[in-house]
This record gives sequence, C-alpha cells and structure tokens, in this order.
Amino acid sequence: MFMAANAQKFPGLAETPPMGWNSWNIYACDINENLIKEVAKAMVDRGLRDAGYEYVVIDDCWHGVRDSLGFITADPVKFPSGIKALSDYIHSLGLKFGIYSDAGWETCGGRPGSRGYEFQDAMKYAEWGVDYLKYDWCKSEGLKADGAYQTMRDALYKAGRPILFSMCEWGNSKPWLWAAETGHIWRTTGDICTKWEGKISFGTWTAWSAMTILDMQEGLREYAGPGHWNDPDMMEVGNGMSDSEGRAHFSMWCMIAAPLIAGTSIQKASDETIKTLTNPEAIAINQDKLGVQGFKFSKADSLEIWYKPLADGDWAVCFLNRDSLSKTIDYNWIDQNVIDAFAKRVTNFQYVTYNIRDAWAHKELGNTQKALKAVVPSHDVLMLRLTPVKK
Ligand code: GLA
Repeated sequence: MFMAANAQKFPGLAETPPMGWNSWNIYACDINENLIKEVAKAMVDRGLRDAGYEYVVIDDCWHGVRDSLGFITADPVKFPSGIKALSDYIHSLGLKFGIYSDAGWETCGGRPGSRGYEFQDAMKYAEWGVDYLKYDWCKSEGLKADGAYQTMRDALYKAGRPILFSMCEWGNSKPWLWAAETGHIWRTTGDICTKWEGKISFGTWTAWSAMTILDMQEGLREYAGPGHWNDPDMMEVGNGMSDSEGRAHFSMWCMIAAPLIAGTSIQKASDETIKTLTNPEAIAINQDKLGVQGFKFSKADSLEIWYKPLADGDWAVCFLNRDSLSKTIDYNWIDQNVIDAFAKRVTNFQYVTYNIRDAWAHKELGNTQKALKAVVPSHDVLMLRLTPVKK
C-alpha cells in the first residue's frame, strides 16, 4: 500500500485554541524588531504570558528580498539583528515565535510570497526557531487552495520543527470542509475591523465588525475540535471599541472556541483592556479540554443566548446584548431544555441543578433552581459557568 509519509501536519499542536498576539490589527506594516520585543516583554510584565498567551506573531512586512540562492531574508532596516535573534529573545521570555507568509507570489503587503519557495521557506523558518506560521492568500490567482496549503503543510513537516499552521484563506474555499488534515486553524471570513456591528467597505474588499463575523460562524461548529479550529480572525479588543464591547467581543471568541490572538499594543493598552484579555474564567471557557465550539441557542429582541458544553458536565452560558438599550433578564432555567445534538449533551435543567458562577464578576449567583434575574447593559455580556451540583 502506498503511504504518503509526509502528507500530514504536525500532530499534538493546538489541542486547545491557540493563544497569542499578532502585529497586524494595530501596527499593520509599521513594525520593527524593537517594537516586537517591547510587545513581547509587555506580554510577560502585564500577565498575558501567565494567562496562557503563548505565540508572538509578526504579520506582514517583515520581509526583505530573496538572496541569490532564493532564501528569504528579513528587511535589514526594520530587523537589523535578523529574525533568529528576535526569535531567541522571544523564546528567552518563555514565549513562542510566529511569522507570516503567503501561498501566492506576493503577500498582501507586496512582499515576497512563498509560491515556488515553500520548502526553502519552511527550512528557514525551522532554522530561525519559528513555532507558528500564518499563511495568507493574496496574489494566489490560478492556485487551488487545498493544494497550495497542503504543499506548505508538507514543507513544514519535512523541515522537522513543530510549527502551528494557521491558514488565512478567508473562508473562500470553505476550508472547514477539507483542512482538518492540513492546518491547525483556518480563517472563516475576510478581515475583522474595529467596529462592533456592520462593516467597512474598501472598494475591492470589505472588513467586518466583530458581531458580523460572529454571525458568519453559523453552521461551522461541527468542523472544529482539538487540533483544528475555526478562526474568526484576530481580536480587536483595545483598538477603539468601548470596554464593554471589548469584553463582549472577547467573551464571544471564548464561547466559540476561537483562537485568542490579541491584536492591540500590549505595552500601551489600558488596564481595563488587559483585565479583559487576561480574565482567567473567560479563558478557561475558551481553553476547555472538551474542545467544543459554542452555539447560539436563542435570539429575541437583540438579546442572544449562547451555550457551550464544557468538560465534566459543565456548561458556559453567555447572554449577549446587541441592543443599544440595556436588557432585563428573568431567565427560568427549568423552562429551558438545551440540547446539543453535535456534542451529544443536554442540560436537563429539570433534573440536574447547576451552581452558577459569573465569569466576569467572579462570584457565585446561586443555582438553576431559581430564575436568574439580571440586567445586561448595552453591548455587553453576562457570561456564566454552570457546574452540576454533586449529589
Ligand atoms: C490579509 C490578512 C490579514 C493580514 C493582512 C496582511 O488581509 O487577512 O489578517 O495578514 O493580509 O497584509
């Protein structure tokens, strides 16, 4: 029997959604080695590393030219010490290092793409100590996504270093249908922007608000799981939304088991932004080892109720208020029967009592025998963890 020994991605990576930071949302092409080092240092000093953020990823525009042998080099002005030195520094902080390329001939920022150089680029990344590759889809006319991404997957595997493969193909070819064996995460949509609702049109392309991207995840949850996650794009928390909107955006990324890739300037972020990004109870919902993406259970009058089954019989529940007015909740648990056919779980509120914990207020809210009464402010959430009472 023919066995394609290299036709696999690195196993054992992204068993829970990856966590880290990426330069694009806040800095775009305006990056350099000192800036990336400052961010990495701030990730340690401001508690992100200890909260679970692991990867520091440089996005587009780090590249210089290819050398006479075809190997990629770093921009000598922005990264004069070279990528290996930066990677060593990031590793010395107990963090991991990620980089960016593109399956086409050029990146979206017009730098050299990996098309035709996949194996050489993968060798370079391994030599530099890269742990994560975000692989974009600009200038890919005429290429087929599955083949193009499989080529880089194979190149990474051949290079011999475990590198998390983050596919950024914008959902064009429905990667959730074919990429579980190819990448560890795949983008499901075009780019996010700092808006809460709506979109921004740039003529040839559109950037989507956090809530619109959330809506676009409908129907995708069954394709996600340990080692292969839907990626609704990097977070905009701290980049201009209000604190409550940032908290709601973050909560929903936790509920849908999204990669938690912070996209703001960690060294300059407000204390409130850092508090949002590092909330251990929210992160625990995202990182839950059952690895099931949550789902929208109901929607009425701009109030959505999302459920996510967790390990050991727990559930996360999130009341998301998308309205411009606050909402009063009077939620009688035992009138609800939440059935998750995909995860084969039911809440059984009539027979099982759950203790309720508020994941943002960090306090107990009684149990599910009694109706929950609360007010959810506009553009905010009430995120709860339910734990069955042991009989
Ligand atoms: C694309 C990607 C973004 C970012 C830019 C870089 O738009 O979707 O996330 O990587 O390219 O140019």
